[in-house]
This record gives sequence, C-alpha cells and structure tokens, in this order.
Amino acid sequence: MSETLDQLEAKRAEARLGGGQRRIDAQHAKGKLTARERIDVLFDEGSFEEYDTLKTHRCTDFGMEEQQYYGDGVITGWGKINGRPCYVFSQDFTVFGGSLSETHAEKICKVMDLAVQNRVPIIGLNDSGGARIQEGVASLGGYAEVFWRNAQASGVIPQISVIMGPCAGGAVYSPAMTDFIFMVKDTSYMFVTGPDVVKTVTNEIVTSEELGGASTHTKKSSVADGAFDNDVEALLEVRRLFDMLPQSFDSALPVLPTTDSEDRIEESLDTLIPANPNQPYDMHEVIRKVADEGNFFEIQKDHAGNILCGFIRLNGSTVGVVANQPMVLAGCLDINSSKKAARFVRFCDAFNIPVLTLVDVPGFLPGVGQEHSGIIKHGAKLLFAYAQATVPLVTVITRKAYGGAYDVMASKHIRADVNYAWPTSEIAVMGAKGASEILYRSELGDPDKIAQRTKDYEDRFANPFIAAQRGFIDEVIMPHSTRRRVSRAFEILKGKKVNGPAKKHDNIPL
Ligand code: HXC
Repeated sequence: MSETLDQLEAKRAEARLGGGQRRIDAQHAKGKLTARERIDVLFDEGSFEEYDTLKTHRCTDFGMEEQQYYGDGVITGWGKINGRPCYVFSQDFTVFGGSLSETHAEKICKVMDLAVQNRVPIIGLNDSGGARIQEGVASLGGYAEVFWRNAQASGVIPQISVIMGPCAGGAVYSPAMTDFIFMVKDTSYMFVTGPDVVKTVTNEIVTSEELGGASTHTKKSSVADGAFDNDVEALLEVRRLFDMLPQSFDSALPVLPTTDSEDRIEESLDTLIPANPNQPYDMHEVIRKVADEGNFFEIQKDHAGNILCGFIRLNGSTVGVVANQPMVLAGCLDINSSKKAARFVRFCDAFNIPVLTLVDVPGFLPGVGQEHSGIIKHGAKLLFAYAQATVPLVTVITRKAYGGAYDVMASKHIRADVNYAWPTSEIAVMGAKGASEILYRSELGDPDKIAQRTKDYEDRFANPFIAAQRGFIDEVIMPHSTRRRVSRAFEILKGKKVNGPAKKHDNIPL
C-alpha cells in the first residue's frame, strides 16, 4: 500500500513540475509566476482542489508520444476567494507554451460545465501560444467547445479572464467572450495574428507590445478592462472584483458589513460644482463620497474617460455606477463611451446589480468622424441597454442634462425608478447659448441682444425645477445628502419586479 501511495505522490510531484525546472526558471526570469503559483495567490490559502492532475494528451504525430507532461499544460479545479467558491483554469506556459490540445480543452470544458451547473463563477488565467500546432483540427475543435460554453455560460455565472502571457490565435477568443478581461503590463499580449504574420500580410512593422500589449488593449481597442503592474497585483485586484459579484444570475449579491453610516453627510459636495458652467470637476469625487468607505472598483479606467463605470458598495451591497466625467471631453457621450457604458449596464442587469447613474452631460459629441463611424448606432447601444434593464435604476443629475443625452442617461422616461437632481442641474434641449443662436438667428449680429436671450433661456431652463414640476425628477436634493438619498432609494427598490413582453431575445444594435 505504502508503495502505491508513494507512486501517486511521485506522479503528483512530477505534475507539479509542469514542463520542468528549466522552463519554470525561464518563466520566472520573465517576471511571471507559474500557473500553480498564480492559483496560490488567487485563492484563499489551502482552498484549491485540483482535477485531472494526471491527464495527458493523446497526440501521436510529430514525435508527441515521447513528450508527455501530466496535466497537459493547464491546471484546473476550484478554490475559495474570501470564503466564496470559484472555478479556475490556469494555463501552464512551461508545457508546450500553454498551447491548447484536445485534452487541454477537455479539462477546461469540464470545469466550465461544473461552474454553470453549480452556479459558481469561473476565472481563466491565460498564458498560451494558441492552438497546439501538432494537433491540427483536434485543437481547433477543442477551442470551439470552449467558445460554445463561454456563450452558454454568459449571463448565468460571472466569467473573468486574466491575460498573463502571450495569447495568440484561438487563445484570445475565449477571453473575448467573458465578462471582464484584465492584463499584466509588459508580459501579456493578445492578438489574432502576431507581428510576423502582420508583417508578411500587410507589410506593417509593429512590436508585440504595440500590436497587442496591455496599453494598446486598455487604452485604444478597449478589448481589456484593466491593466496591472505584475501577476500578483492583477490577481489581488481580481479577488477585489470577485468580492463585488454574485455567484450567478440567480443568487443574491454578496454583502460586506460596513461601519460607514448610511446617513453620512458630505458637506463638500455642496460646493463641488464650479460657478462657471464650463469649468470641469472630477466626478470621481462624487462617486467616492457616496460609496461605502470611498471604495470604487473602476472598469476600463484608461478608455473613454468621458464616462466612468465601476462598482461601489452601498450599505454593504454592490451597486454599479455609470457617471459622465466633465474632466474629459466635457463629459460628452461619444462612440467609445456609449459602448463602454452599454456593456457595463448590460453586465449589471444580467447579474441583478442595481445601477446608479450620475449625470453631467452636455450632449452627444458632434463631428463628421463620430457620424461616419456610427455614433447613431453606438449611442443607441447605451439607450437600448438602459431601456431594457430591469434592475433598480437610480439617477442623480449633478449639472448638465442636455438633449438626447438627458433621455439616454437613465431618465425617468426610459424607466429609471428614482430620479434625483441637485439644485445646480440644468435640464434643457441644449446649452443656452446654442439655443438662443438658433431661436434668434436674425439677432446674431447684435451680441448684446444674444447675450440677453441667452440669459433669459438660462433663467428659464438652466435649473431642475421645470422637470421637477412635471415629475420627471422625483426630488431636488441637497448634494450633501446624496449618499443617504441614494442608499434609501436602492433599499426600497430591492423587491423590484418587472416583466417585459414575451420574446425570444432582443436585437440590440451591435
Ligand atoms: C505547440 C507551442 C505553441 C503552439 C508555443 N509552443 N506555441 N507548441 N503549439 N501553438 C511551444 C514552443 O515550441 C516552445 O517549446 C514553448 O512553447 C515556448 O515557446 P517559445 O516560442 O520558446 O516562447 P516565446 O519566445 O515566449 O514565444 C511565445 C509565442 C510563440 C509568442 C506564443 O511561441 C508563438 O508565436 N507561438 C505560436 C503562436 C501561434 O501561431 N499559435 C497558433 C495560432 S492559430 P519548447 O519545447 O522549446 O519549450 C490558432 C487557431 C485557433 O490558435 C483559432 C480558433 C478561432
């Protein structure tokens, strides 16, 4: 018996070495952790349960029979994050570059199926050279099995991807179908085809970093939702995000007890809005002053900075925040910000996370570039996302709410539940100057007259009271009491139930 146990222990020890010490050293030399070390950081100590440790590939081509490694380049199982279970797969770059074989895919599919069945989120730690070249179509089939499961799991359980090495070819499409993608700066890349292929096909000369590094994907392409300095930071931030998310669409939101009083007054908010309506202020300040302990987990903070998206807690319970940011493009809605916020609202709605919308928006960004690139279709994404959302929606207008952007930003008319406005709000079809110049075009030659017309328009519309008279605003509130008003609004909305018309699924403008 003891010999049998020793044999098992020997096999396990061999599995723990992955592709061998030389390749582990190479991984460390690049500043990367191994697949197992990453799991140790991600999960609570000692909580990881591994499956398929001894699985091996079945390929017999290209001398592959001679090259067998236990685990076949991916470590799978489940563990706990602050006491709550989570499935994981962690690709092992030391084994065939973490490439995906048929059996490697089977291991991932097994934990994905269990995650959906048991209503437990799944995190993928990706470090892979893509399809296992020696296996051909068997590997492509394996990828497609993973992709299909990503689509099936979408909206059932949260799926999070962390890109922790080169991810080429098929290795990028599974992450692309998950809810959030995080990257590690300087050591992770995502591209469909790498720099060499790009050079051959298009003659473009580009580095891996420029083509698909963390900076490219968090700033330009918006493929990734955040970038972190190293593996440890990335994994610790994923733990922080995980703490905010429910286990599935049909389980309750996690509640973290807080000592932060719901009644906390923030006097500084009363003087946050500058006297000059064209002067910006930082909307982060409102978010942090409303949130429990000032804690805000921001999503896509390096992309489309004119809108802020992320998670806070109110009375310990998760709330998604969407907020115009006057410091970037004056808070205008453009293509990128509409897409960013639409996807975020849909995530929140899918997982029953209430949404707080903070509004200071002068309208949609005008311009040929925006029109030709489809601002109509992309702006409609955000409108559609809000209009179809059935989670509790609470809106606070802090300053401008102009034109179509007023409607889009969770207005009462598209079924937000509670709409508040600060007394500094200006709710109008457009800014007073633009409005006067259109209404009184014949007086354009007389600056004094236009200035008077502008003032008249401001006096009439640059306030929240007309909207309040009509009930489009439920209450004009003191900025200092925003946290209390918003917390209480979400409290009474907890039981919200909305049934839309029967349908197969909607057709959001993609
Ligand atoms: C088999 C692979 C592999 C792969 C890497 N390796 N990629 N083995 N299949 N796809 C192996 C290498 O042979 C090497 O083995 C080890 O992994 C480490 O690779 P290196 O090249 O030494 O590492 P590095 O210099 O860091 O470069 C990493 C890399 C590069 C950028 C990922 O290896 C690379 O370009 N690989 C090919 C990427 C690719 O074209 N994949 C197919 C995409 S097509 P040893 O024994 O030396 O340690 C695809 C189709 C799916 O995925 C589409 C579905 C939609």
